[in-house]
Amino acid sequence: MRYNAIDRNLFIKNRKNFATQMVRRSVAVFNSNDTYPIGADSTLPFVQHPDIFYLSGVDQEESILLLCPDAKNPKHREVLFVRETNAHIAVWEGEKLTKARAAEVSGIATIYWLADFEKIFFEVMTQSDFIYLNTNEHYRQSEETETRERRFIKWCREKYPAHQVAKSNPILQALRAVKDAVEIELIQQACNITEKGFKRILSFVKPGVWEYEIEAEFLHEFIRNRSQGFAYTPIIASGNNANVLHYIQNKEQCKAGDLLLLDVGAKYANYSSDMTRTIPVSGKFTPRQAEVYKAVLKVKNEATAMLVPGAFWKEYHEEVGKLMTSALIDLKLLDKTDVQNQDPDWPTYKKYFMHGTSHHMGLDTHDYGLLHEPIQPNMVFTVEPGIYIPEEGFGIRLEDDVVVQPQGEPFNLMRNIPIEIDEIETLMHETHM
Ligand code: GLY
Ligand code: MN
Ligand code: MN
Repeated sequence: MRYNAIDRNLFIKNRKNFATQMVRRSVAVFNSNDTYPIGADSTLPFVQHPDIFYLSGVDQEESILLLCPDAKNPKHREVLFVRETNAHIAVWEGEKLTKARAAEVSGIATIYWLADFEKIFFEVMTQSDFIYLNTNEHYRQSEETETRERRFIKWCREKYPAHQVAKSNPILQALRAVKDAVEIELIQQACNITEKGFKRILSFVKPGVWEYEIEAEFLHEFIRNRSQGFAYTPIIASGNNANVLHYIQNKEQCKAGDLLLLDVGAKYANYSSDMTRTIPVSGKFTPRQAEVYKAVLKVKNEATAMLVPGAFWKEYHEEVGKLMTSALIDLKLLDKTDVQNQDPDWPTYKKYFMHGTSHHMGLDTHDYGLLHEPIQPNMVFTVEPGIYIPEEGFGIRLEDDVVVQPQGEPFNLMRNIPIEIDEIETLMHETHM
């Protein structure tokens, strides 16, 4: 792997936390992602499924993790199955996990080749009444493809119809939402790489550059710093493109006087970072752009302070909506009568700020987290308000990633990424001289 080795105690602890929540006489299984085909013989680069990675650290296709805390054979309480490597694979694809290496990465003592799975699974299933299946219950999931996990579920229910089914996902959503110190450090590293990318492009952006050239600058900086690349498809949106929320074409030329919205984050060791900055193409904000920018920054800072233990995600969003409403009145984008007559189910501020303020962030950019439970220390959230004004030809969003603290304000993992107007103008000016 391109990233440095991760302390296997993280995965040992994660499995222990999961296993403690399993009912007696039960088995849980977690599968790798497929390597997805494109056409002919080409495939997308392999990306590990975050759940099996979280529980084992194994970053390889065709791996299966099996947990059976009550297995009669103590060796079968935790088992990892990996693809058997051979001389042909070594020549064509390079190094794969040996049994010893898989044990070292994961902290799991029993490693078998994949071919042994059905036999061992049969053994532990006959000693169990429940099978934990890993479905995807993320609030934004939309899977059309039949994943490897899904195929396993189909096979398992067909083969073992008498077992009772339990759900892994709610356990994982609760566990993965609260980050370990090791995970926070990995997310910090992803943010630090994003910072390097942003600082690089501050000296690159000027009237006439193309959005895709900026994308290339980010990627160059990310990869030379051991990142796997973008954590999500980057949005490099100048002028009115910023008002298309998921603009990913990145194909236009940046014009003098326009703002440029950059929603870009590096991935490191499978952990995301998720940053947005909005900068002036010419290196200086107009008074109106600066006025709106300051309003977005103020909402961001005030919203961040509300991410404290015990707060609820839904109420937090309602409060941010109120902050945004008053900001939009000050900017003369809304008037008080609009607000008095607003539909409570679609408050009027949504005309200019139509997306959520925060999401959990971690192995997934839009990470797991049970959204109806109180916020806890060591949850990592983005804070990303925006104001989008197509009639004025610009949109502004600012986004940082923060860690909820036991007391007081969250810790900002992007504290070193320039965000104040003066800072950005000075940095852009210095490098344009
Ligand atoms: N970049 C995706 C998001 O901000 O949620
Ligand atoms: Mn983002
Ligand atoms: Mn985000």
